Amino acid sequence: MDVKSAPTSRSKTAAKEDSQDSSPVRKHEDSELASDRKPEGPSSRLPGFYELPRSERLRAVQVFSGLQEGDIDALGHASNLRGDLIDVFIENGVGTFALPLGIATNFKVNDRDVLVPMAVEETSVLAAASHGAKLARSGGGFVATSTAPIMTGQIQLLLDRECDYDAVLNERKQQLIEYANRGQDRLMARGGGALDLTWRFIPEIRSLVLHLHINTCDAMGANIVNTMCERVSTLMPELLPVDIGLRILTNLTDRRTTEVSCRVPKGALTTPEFDGARVAERIVMAYQFAAHDVHRAATNNKGIMNGIDPVVIATGNDWRAVEAGAHAYASLSGRYLPLATWSLDGNGDLTGQIKLPLAVGVVGGVTRLHPSAQAALSLLGQPDARELANIIAAVGLAQNLSALRALASEGIQRGHMSLHRSNLDLLGRRGASKE
Ligand code: MEV
Repeated sequence: MDVKSAPTSRSKTAAKEDSQDSSPVRKHEDSELASDRKPEGPSSRLPGFYELPRSERLRAVQVFSGLQEGDIDALGHASNLRGDLIDVFIENGVGTFALPLGIATNFKVNDRDVLVPMAVEETSVLAAASHGAKLARSGGGFVATSTAPIMTGQIQLLLDRECDYDAVLNERKQQLIEYANRGQDRLMARGGGALDLTWRFIPEIRSLVLHLHINTCDAMGANIVNTMCERVSTLMPELLPVDIGLRILTNLTDRRTTEVSCRVPKGALTTPEFDGARVAERIVMAYQFAAHDVHRAATNNKGIMNGIDPVVIATGNDWRAVEAGAHAYASLSGRYLPLATWSLDGNGDLTGQIKLPLAVGVVGGVTRLHPSAQAALSLLGQPDARELANIIAAVGLAQNLSALRALASEGIQRGHMSLHRSNLDLLGRRGASKE
């Protein structure tokens, strides 16, 4: 690949203007040629990227993104976490544990081309994400939308005796929300803050559980939510005959969700061995298997998280929180279901959708302090929290598409093993010591 001929980066402002995550889901391109149109910005299609030496891959990323040397260094160096930061992040720190950081190509999300940083140790994940993105790109790319970043905190109140808590809470609701927001001037100035209070009674454990719903803006928001819940809880014994129980956010952030869809023209699924229309049908059958079988659904969703977690990690976000939310959401109906659905449209083309809670932030904590996370966010064009969630969910859908495509045709091992072998060959050719 001639890296020098790659188009130069657009400004961050231009990139932001392009993203429309809060707009209604737009229609997918009708034409299979959609991908052939010249994108306005740089293209994330980088054929031959895989075969470049690592240093040249980094240069290609720089040409695409216009990243400064400092960010490029932060992406390229295995051990860039300063000792003092280790102690800022955790207790009892003794060192760091490095993961490979790769770049998934071909992604187009809401008409914007992005190169996606992924921190992951598993062979095939980067290749699968890039392949899934290429397939989706042939139908116009991913269309994504995220809700406002509403996190929910729970305040458990243990009822001492019967009382009309509905009457009290309905009367005091607004006052409690205002009390939660006191001292949160910076959050309020950014348009965030507590917005709503709901509750439910769980008779088996005599618990009245308040749900405080808070717009945490560009933060993941765990600390904000926990602080507000603890604050509001102190008022409750004055209002109701209760003992205070737990006060903590829920990771099932069902008011903070992201939806992504894509369309793959059946022709794009054709290989020398397999007919595209048949592969599309078999991908739908693979989805249906997961929809009817929890053992398959678990593996299917693991494959989706193969895409999601590495981006969450690379951007310094809390992947345990995202995992917990995703799997709880997958079981919300009472049955554990696949997070993405696949069907054929009237033309026999494949369409896919994913919806899941994605509590990720772009400010605060590790995201702000970790140099690699900062560089990863720069590479993504400094998205806001919703734009970041859009990209992450698109990677999850791409990963699922790629896994189902392989499973529905030649099987997973051929690609996986040949990639593993060619990774080893590449290493052998270059000589491990030089890298
Ligand atoms: C492997 O890490 C992920 C897959 O098992 C996902 C799937 O089966 O859908 C290939």
